[in-house]
Amino acid sequence: MSDRIIIFDTTLRDGEQSPGCSMNTEEKLEVAGALVELGVDIIEAGFPIASPGDFEAVQAIARKFGDRTTICGLARSRDEDIDRAWNALKDAEKKRIHVFLATSSIHRQFKLKMDKPEILQRAVDSVKRAKGYCDNIEFSPEDAVRTELDFLTEVVEKAIEAGATTVNIPDTVGYATPKQYFDCISHLKKHVRNIDRAIISSHCHNDLGLAVANSLAAVEAGARQVECTINGLGERAGNAALEEIVMALRTRSDFYGIDTSHINTRKLCGISRTVSTITGMLVQRNKAIVGQNAFAHEAGIHQHGMLQDRSTYEIMRPEDVGFTGANLVLGKHSGRHAFRDRVTHLGHALDDATFEQVFSDFIALADKKKDVYDSDIVALIENRIGDEPAADQWKLISFHTSAGMGTIPTATMQLQQGESPVRCDAATGDGPVDAVFRALQRITGIPAELKNYTVRSLSVGQEAQGEVLVEIAAKNRIHHGKAASTDIIEASALAYLRALNKAAAAQALPQPPMHPQHSR
Ligand code: KIV
Ligand code: ZN
Repeated sequence: MSDRIIIFDTTLRDGEQSPGCSMNTEEKLEVAGALVELGVDIIEAGFPIASPGDFEAVQAIARKFGDRTTICGLARSRDEDIDRAWNALKDAEKKRIHVFLATSSIHRQFKLKMDKPEILQRAVDSVKRAKGYCDNIEFSPEDAVRTELDFLTEVVEKAIEAGATTVNIPDTVGYATPKQYFDCISHLKKHVRNIDRAIISSHCHNDLGLAVANSLAAVEAGARQVECTINGLGERAGNAALEEIVMALRTRSDFYGIDTSHINTRKLCGISRTVSTITGMLVQRNKAIVGQNAFAHEAGIHQHGMLQDRSTYEIMRPEDVGFTGANLVLGKHSGRHAFRDRVTHLGHALDDATFEQVFSDFIALADKKKDVYDSDIVALIENRIGDEPAADQWKLISFHTSAGMGTIPTATMQLQQGESPVRCDAATGDGPVDAVFRALQRITGIPAELKNYTVRSLSVGQEAQGEVLVEIAAKNRIHHGKAASTDIIEASALAYLRALNKAAAAQALPQPPMHPQHSR
């Protein structure tokens, strides 16, 4: 049995099914690029039949990255789904079609209204059809964990006979426990006669908070592919978190004996931030591996131990997962050279023009606050990278707010769209941030409803930058914007304007993608 694990990332398919987390093609390409850099083996890029938007994204990812990583598209066990998946994937050098069909009695009876022989036949027919297009075929008996073991064994055996090269065993509703999932995988290994012709894969949902534990149990039982998402993104309580699985296998290689060396774990925190920024799904502070507190040692006794020897309380080195935290790095007098070194150390390769902009932002920030932390620098970079409005998009020129007890909060804003003349307007609101949002809407004429607004501190102390995330709904679509500043009103204005610009760009496109549940 090979001891190398295959990391199958489904952030762009199962992760994207999380409410409010849909991404456009450009955003999916950005995440796919980061997944390639991370070193995952397979990117499940979407469900091509779900919508023209999904098809376009899978095709774009297949064309751009299909020579470096295997790109996978999902299909129900229907001819039209399989044909559509193939059409989206065909330009990739490395591709996989992933066919699924529910097998549990609940799904057979209530959803599919099919009996066991019909399920077996449909599974075989669809794997054969997919195999007619490409060699690399994955078959998933949906809700496998609640399927009778003898029937599951039969379906898996028939799917392999028909040509499946990977058999995935989904815990679709997050019902399994580690021992049960271990037993299920062990049973298949023992009783599926042709199991040596396929890789067994785990696919765990987190409804009981057991997705990572179950995935690791599957690996112990012999699974050699793990399906997972960045930050554990996914419907309901999400999917198994990629960063946790990889770091558990890496840190406890003494126990699992599994090779994860193809994954560049130093990219984990960066990709976690990218996915969080794009989807607007915040990462909880105490989240394992990538949370802001993941490496914070507050208790005196821990700090004492750490000062003697880090291994007393630290099982992983923060730098091995690309954790930047709140390290004090630079001040007002740090030069260009030191700043460039720090940017490179943080994993960013900026072109000269962007570097100069970020450097001047850094000087301005260092004037406002004494200590500049790694987290501040990452935010400055993200501010600039996310600050490339297309020619016809809106830019903030200036703003003024007045607020206080006994007065009416008011905001006056100046914006410019492309090269057209600067426009000015004012609005009142129930606070200065509300007034700013209303003024922005008046000038841009983009109607939007604020769905979520979050502000958090990027480092420590009173002068810390505030990072603002906004989520808006415009024409039935959700858009996110993020910005950071020592002035949270300015950060709020910039974040909201970014979300409005995304809404304007999406409205210029032909049609919004819809997201059918995978079970239909
Ligand atoms: O959870 C599930 O069953 C799935 C399948 C489509 C693999 O996501
Ligand atoms: Zn799933």
